[in-house]
Amino acid sequence: MSNLTECAAWHALEKHHQEVAPQHMREWFEADPERTARFSAEACGIYVDYSKNRITDDTLALLLGLARERRIAERVAEMFDGVPINATENRAVLHAALRDDAQVPACTVGADVRARVARELGRLDEFARAVHNGDWLGYSGSPITDVVNIGIGGSDLGPLMVCRALRPYALSGLNVHFVSNVDGTHLADTLAGLQPQSTLFVVCSKTFTTLETLTNAHNARAWIVEHLGDQAAVASHFVAVSTNAAAVTEFGIAPESMFGFWDWVGGRYSLWSSIGVSIVLCVGPKRFRELLAGAHAMDLHFRDAPFEANLPVLLGMLGVWYGNFFGAETHAVLPYDQSLERFPAYLQQLDMESNGKSTTLTGDRVGYLTGPIVWGEPGTNGQHAFFQLLHQGTRLVPADFLVPAHSLRPVGEHHRLLLANCFAQTEALMRGKRADEARAELQAAGFSGDALESLLPHKVFEGNRPSNTLLFRVLDPYTLGALIALYEHKVFVQGSVWGVNSFDQWGVELGKQLAGVIARELTYEDDAAGHDASTNYLINHCRHLWRSGEHP
Ligand code: F6P
Repeated sequence: MSNLTECAAWHALEKHHQEVAPQHMREWFEADPERTARFSAEACGIYVDYSKNRITDDTLALLLGLARERRIAERVAEMFDGVPINATENRAVLHAALRDDAQVPACTVGADVRARVARELGRLDEFARAVHNGDWLGYSGSPITDVVNIGIGGSDLGPLMVCRALRPYALSGLNVHFVSNVDGTHLADTLAGLQPQSTLFVVCSKTFTTLETLTNAHNARAWIVEHLGDQAAVASHFVAVSTNAAAVTEFGIAPESMFGFWDWVGGRYSLWSSIGVSIVLCVGPKRFRELLAGAHAMDLHFRDAPFEANLPVLLGMLGVWYGNFFGAETHAVLPYDQSLERFPAYLQQLDMESNGKSTTLTGDRVGYLTGPIVWGEPGTNGQHAFFQLLHQGTRLVPADFLVPAHSLRPVGEHHRLLLANCFAQTEALMRGKRADEARAELQAAGFSGDALESLLPHKVFEGNRPSNTLLFRVLDPYTLGALIALYEHKVFVQGSVWGVNSFDQWGVELGKQLAGVIARELTYEDDAAGHDASTNYLINHCRHLWRSGEHP
């Protein structure tokens, strides 16, 4: 496969960009009432309106041409067929197998893989039922009232985001908490409200070597032993999820209290595996299956739908259009649903850990932008914080607006107002406000002369700012599953266009290595001297502050 920037479609897009960039979406909408009908698609209950983008029919044809030149269909087939496309780790990428349906399979995997997945799912179901029924009791015979998920990154963000999103479906009687940060405040704050005799810890770590998780788990274990007065209490208050059985045993959790998964599941793609145990505990096995079913439906759509109707391909290629041709650095994700408050944080890991790469699969340095900076906040909060920049700032920020037609927590008129705000924002971003419109408004408000002229430039909105709107009926488990899978696949499409491996994360290693060294040095008497001057000084100054007794 040729270099991305040598593709015929890439060259054509560069030229096409020169033609499209000066044009305004507003005029396209005025001239073409069919625009939205053409630039929208629906799958798995998610309607995507991508008509408020700086695209024409030609743009779309060229972008999909680029996807073809980059052999996206072949890459997709390889993933579902279990080819080790995670080349730097020589692993298959089969998170789709975790939500597969043997009757309508998306993945080509052996019966052994299906059997292993089904077995672990069955164990999760059984465990959740035992906790809920009171068959699983604390060491002193108390029913479990609180579950604390200890994990970080993919062993935290996915389950946390889903548990928040599906709160309306949460089963009563069990509160689920999440501790991730190695900052002891996170653990201390969480434990402060809990009773040891009724608290169950779920230690989630694919590798079971992660500093944050092990530090939190060790201190949680100490808390249990101290309060319940017996080392034996650990068995009733700890379970683990990992691929590293030896390390779990060494920690003191018995193999029968460990749920497994496999190296072909990446951490940030693992919420569908046993890592989702806190989700199963929170909403129960039936809802978890619905989540899996939604993701599976999106897998089939991604694998089979033609590019022109394929949501992950369309959203992925639009991101390529803005990043590589308009130079957009970031991508905003704006859920108009408070339940999705952690969705942007979850997507940050999914997208930025997957495509934050500058080396291609062939080992070459890329000559173009890859993964964007992903960020966002729920609407309408963001409107009163950073939307000013989206509307009138100097940067182009493509944005996704996610919104359910129905609220699961209807209160008075709130949801109608929420929807109105969501739709109004995308309209405003697209249309803007011309000087003649702003002038007329000011005149109607009684302005004239110098006062009007000096205010006028501030009241003008360029518009022409792109957005996608993802509208769905309601945020139920099925739809959430489909939504997450949609973004997983979008990230894969983009990584494939850029020629990077979306499934490794070597970039997080260096900081981990250095932190190990510095953690030891912070315990030494002698001044640190082995780093650069800045790092040496920070270490030494910190130790000076410790010694000087300036401690609260
Ligand atoms: O540091 C990054 C990372 O490796 C993520 O990819 C992963 O999700 C997270 O750490 C946690 O890893 P583990 O589940 O092995 O504790």
